[in-house]
Amino acid sequence: MIEVHETIADLRAALESTRRAGRSVGLVPTMGALHAGHASLITRAASDCDVVVVTVFVNPLQFGAGEDLGAYPRSLAADIFLADESGAAHVFAPSTGEMYGAGPVTTVAVDGPLTNVLEGASRPTHFDGVTTVVAKLFAIVGACSAYFGEKDFQQLAVVRRMTADLSFPVRVVGCPTVRDPDGLALSSRNAYLEPDERRVAPLLHRSLVAGADCIRGGERQPAAVTEAMASVIATEPMFDPDYVAVVDAATFETPDPLEGDLRLLAAARLGKARLIDNLGVTVSAGPSGRLSGQHGAHR
Ligand code: PAJ
Repeated sequence: MIEVHETIADLRAALESTRRAGRSVGLVPTMGALHAGHASLITRAASDCDVVVVTVFVNPLQFGAGEDLGAYPRSLAADIFLADESGAAHVFAPSTGEMYGAGPVTTVAVDGPLTNVLEGASRPTHFDGVTTVVAKLFAIVGACSAYFGEKDFQQLAVVRRMTADLSFPVRVVGCPTVRDPDGLALSSRNAYLEPDERRVAPLLHRSLVAGADCIRGGERQPAAVTEAMASVIATEPMFDPDYVAVVDAATFETPDPLEGDLRLLAAARLGKARLIDNLGVTVSAGPSGRLSGQHGAHR
């Protein structure tokens, strides 16, 4: 039977007995409204670790003014059911007061190109909110493996960096993006889409595939690749594009000419939703020394 904890003290007490019994802990941080993408993280954590904790907390710190904090979907009862079904032993669902009291005054920020570009440029306070809550969850849960989706690829990179820089006793594990059959990445925010918007939404993923195909076809100029991506999104006037980019997957800087382990990323508004997606492409020196591109279709 899954246990639900609302206080830090309660969760810590439960995990203390787990550790005394020599059992490993897996952590899956979420904001709830769980779907099959979240479930894939929980299933993976349950296959790696003895005991899995799913956290459900809509973190106000990572929402900017005018963003969808108030409208963010909440479905705790269904989340507990799905967490249980996917193999979790604990759900941690604290109130905002429990997490932050009247504060927080202390925040955790990763500086530099990882947080200045793309999501960081469009949502200037977002990553400080993410790193503050994730640092707090790591401190509450203690040594563990923590599972994050490649769906939020920049977030994954920022969390990895914070974990290394602050020496958290946490192994960060990245997990592939789960998509609907038409290519749309699963997201709690897809619930905002009207039926006509949902129909065109997979175009965001198609723009990434177009960029990846362009690189596979031999294109090495970043601008040509981003133009190919943008032109796919531009075919649907319902989209209000935010960014398209091709960056080095580790540094988030754009190599010119393109080479190495690359990530194509795109963000666009569609109705009330802001959708993001990304795809990996590797340009490696082949046996002849010639560069070749590859990409995994469902990453
Ligand atoms: P949330 O959007 O609820 O996502 C929780 C985790 O599920 C993240 O690691 C995210 O990348 C992963 N995820 C979401 N959609 C996915 C999909 N289609 N396939 C695979 N994984 C997917 O990301 C957050 O919450 C918050 O920023 C959080 C890290 C919990 C901090 O508040």
